[in-house]
Amino acid sequence: MNAVQTPAPIGEAAARKRLHVITWGCQMNVYDSGRMADVLAPLGYAPAAEPDGADMVILNTCHIRDKAAEKVFSELGRLRRLKEATGNRMILAVAGCVAQAEGAEILARAPYVDIVLGPQTYHRLPEMVAQASRAAGAVIETDFPPEEKFDHLPDSATPQGPTAFLTIQEGCDKFCSFCVVPYTRGAEASRPAGAILREARHLVAQGSREITLLGQNVNAWHGEAPGAATWGLGRLLRELAEIPGLTRLRYATSHPRDMDDDLVAAHRDIPSLMPFLHLPVQSGSDRVLAAMNRKHTADDYRRIIDRLRAARPDLALSSDFIVGHPGETDADHEATMALVRDVGFAQAYSFKYSPRPGTPAAGAPMQVAEDVKDSRLQALQALLREQQARFGAGCVGLDMPVLFTGPGRHPGQIVGRSPYLQPVHVSGGANLVGTESIVRIVASHPNSLAGTLVQERQIA
Ligand code: SAH
Ligand code: SF4
Ligand code: F3S
Repeated sequence: MNAVQTPAPIGEAAARKRLHVITWGCQMNVYDSGRMADVLAPLGYAPAAEPDGADMVILNTCHIRDKAAEKVFSELGRLRRLKEATGNRMILAVAGCVAQAEGAEILARAPYVDIVLGPQTYHRLPEMVAQASRAAGAVIETDFPPEEKFDHLPDSATPQGPTAFLTIQEGCDKFCSFCVVPYTRGAEASRPAGAILREARHLVAQGSREITLLGQNVNAWHGEAPGAATWGLGRLLRELAEIPGLTRLRYATSHPRDMDDDLVAAHRDIPSLMPFLHLPVQSGSDRVLAAMNRKHTADDYRRIIDRLRAARPDLALSSDFIVGHPGETDADHEATMALVRDVGFAQAYSFKYSPRPGTPAAGAPMQVAEDVKDSRLQALQALLREQQARFGAGCVGLDMPVLFTGPGRHPGQIVGRSPYLQPVHVSGGANLVGTESIVRIVASHPNSLAGTLVQERQIA
């Protein structure tokens, strides 16, 4: 039995508990970690910067690529020692997509773990903590419960800061050949528009100026709206744009198939919708796209980009690419390189295909040799780096609005975000954090820009 304390009651005594959350994976996990902390706040758990001596540690995991489980077990080995140092008082929880996919194995291999919970059950954490405190064994919750978890969450207690995440859609029905997400996050589900607008207002009231709407397929969002209507993402963005003080909107991650006309038009009509879009294409070869079950061609993608650029000429693009999907030939790889040259990306992520247990591609014939994947990745990344550098260099000399998010690397410096999501370093006081000002870009570096304030006045 784990000698853990029962949750402290709400009130003065409650604030004594320390919660440390370790977050791996995508932005949705970052959002989830914040919400788990919100759910635990009424039990007296306050954030702790370090796991040492914490009353509870949550490891929020990602299963998307390579050796995800091994990485979890090696981190759990480290946390076990910290737990023992607390006389086993620390509650150790494993959350996220590895917990969902391999919950039983985690408990078998790491019996010192107290709680295993999947991404759809974190609203039940208080019960699990109470149970873990009482029970002789560990608690595992990896169902996809029928109730809507968002209905059971309190308002966020801790402000996210000038830039915030807001999950509006979860799960995926697309079943790309390589991907675990439909298995770890379940079926596509959209939150109702009213709840999203309410949460957005709450975030703005807490000081956020920029909100990124999140979903595994965020543009597949189709939410219940007032008057028994259903809205798409374009309409939701129009409504969000009306919230006073919400000066910047973004959304991620999108699927090309769900880029409908209204959403394209939203890029033309909504000035606060930032001119930067992450729209993963994965490959430029129609053969590979078909094998991936993406249900679009490379030319479909080119046409979507043309429509988006017609709507918003200054739109900058980002994408994800996988090299070495089973069956990918040199000619297929060249088709990806050609697509990259045609589109021109401001930024992009690229990965070697990594077989994931239980996905169709993992068992497919014609797996690509590791050294071939390596050389294709190098070639692709060199091209993408070159495009990113060109995009950064093209920003030099421009005046652009920058939303300041925190202190910079050096004293007297602050860092902010350009409309294109580049970090921008500027000399300026901490009092500017949370405001948006015009900055003249004076230099570009591989992953950031440097600028000078040309207008210290807040823009809005
Ligand atoms: N929903 C998004 C992406 C989710 S996963 C979309 O449809 O595009 C984030 C990225 O991880 C993917 O875009 C893909 O490029 C990469 N990825 C997913 N599974 C992978 C695998 N098995 N091997 C390598 N990369 C993978
Ligand atoms: Fe994974 Fe494809 Fe769904 Fe994206 S659309 S989450 S890559 S299955
Ligand atoms: Fe990873 Fe799960 Fe996100 S597998 S990428 S944490 S949806």
